[in-house]
Amino acid sequence: MSTSPPETMYTLRLELNGDQVKVECQPDTRLLTLLRENWHLVGAKRGCEVGRCGACMVWLNGAPANACLLMAYQLQGQSIRTIESVAEAVASQPVQQALARCAGVQCGYCTAGIVMSMTYVAQLEPRPSLEEAERFMSGNLCRCTGYAGIKRALCEVLSEQA
Ligand code: FES
Ligand code: FES
Repeated sequence: MSTSPPETMYTLRLELNGDQVKVECQPDTRLLTLLRENWHLVGAKRGCEVGRCGACMVWLNGAPANACLLMAYQLQGQSIRTIESVAEAVASQPVQQALARCAGVQCGYCTAGIVMSMTYVAQLEPRPSLEEAERFMSGNLCRCTGYAGIKRALCEVLSEQA
């Protein structure tokens, strides 16, 4: 992963939801902008844009990361999955169903990020305790403060994995 920013426009090539894509970028282009404005993948939301809320969560090489903090030049040859792909995956279905059953969705602005994190944490081996899973998900904020429903869904998902 490159750590020094380019001085001029450059071509970024990466794997996006299983497809090889390329795009011309400015030195300061961020992944969240590319997703939403270039590829029209708007599941990752603009929230704080400083890495505090998790609304823009993607998977970078299989692990959750905030798209608002990822500079495009860091992503040469890397793999990105967004909610548009993860929402279709078998692994995320129990998470989505649990959130719906447990009233873990209100306005829905945080929900894509919650699904990204919860699906990831539910797949960890060994299975995390509820406390560990909650700590892991502490980067996902809900402005509707619907944490009780989200926590119930997390409990269900972890117990289904038992
Ligand atoms: Fe990226 Fe808040 S918008 S963490
Ligand atoms: Fe509204 Fe979480 S449901 S921000």
